[in-house]
Amino acid sequence: MNTKELTRILPIDILAWGAEHLRDLPWRRTRNPWFVLVAEVMLQQTQIDRVLSKWPAFLEEFPTVISCAVAPTSEVVKQWEGMGFNRRAVLLHQAAKSIKDNHGGEVPLELDELLLLPGIGPYTARAILAFAYEQDSAVVDTNVGRVLARWMGRRLKPAEAQELADRSVPLGEGWAWNQAVLDFGSMVCRSKNPKCEECPIYSSCAWQGIGVDPAKGSAGVSGTQSRFEGSDRQGRGKLVAALRKNPIKKSELAEVMGWPLDPERAERVASTVISDGLATSKGDTLSLPQI
Ligand code: ADE
Repeated sequence: MNTKELTRILPIDILAWGAEHLRDLPWRRTRNPWFVLVAEVMLQQTQIDRVLSKWPAFLEEFPTVISCAVAPTSEVVKQWEGMGFNRRAVLLHQAAKSIKDNHGGEVPLELDELLLLPGIGPYTARAILAFAYEQDSAVVDTNVGRVLARWMGRRLKPAEAQELADRSVPLGEGWAWNQAVLDFGSMVCRSKNPKCEECPIYSSCAWQGIGVDPAKGSAGVSGTQSRFEGSDRQGRGKLVAALRKNPIKKSELAEVMGWPLDPERAERVASTVISDGLATSKGDTLSLPQI
């Protein structure tokens, strides 16, 4: 970074844009740290529409950290149905147990403590600080990463993106600022067809929608998701979906996972489901973990 870049911060205009355009999403109406934590883990990899129905249902079943921590993994995985990336359910359950055992059931409000929790990465940890505790912490997810890279006009390394994001939070506005940048990224500075003509920070944007998109490959910006159809992930999903209903005999694995002619693949992929803590193996049977 050159010295001029080091002093750049995103224009405050995004805050005013947010005041006018912020989406009214239910997890934005609460400051309950557990509710926020669950929402953010869900939002990492699942579309908002799906989270809108699953988040309240999950919290009805597990209204507190403790209620989740004392439940068997099987119940948490069952509640995760329809969300995809089931490993997140196991990690969320482990995080709840760690918060119960190591933090007296209170979601920590220190970044380094949050980062030590299972399944909580830099984005989620800062999202909890900003959205539950209203701290001036800066989140960098795919939307924010895209805004930062485009506005700077170049691909950013993770530390550069985080530094620019950190510098940009207006004092005392951590909650509103982060929500605004997230929505600005998803509604205006969109991945495809950005609405540059509506952009409140166009005049200072280094990219202005012209030429190669600096967001491609920049810190925090996710690439295209790999194909689901025919993937190992699809087989894993089928196995966990079956286990939610009943234990499965090992001899049924290939059929259940959608690879009737490839039992070796089924066994290999099933072993990753076990090592991820989503299933336990006893004798000739697999089931959801009861601990
Ligand atoms: N509000 C808070 N966090 C969010 C997220 N990750 N995606 C969309 N809206 C949010």
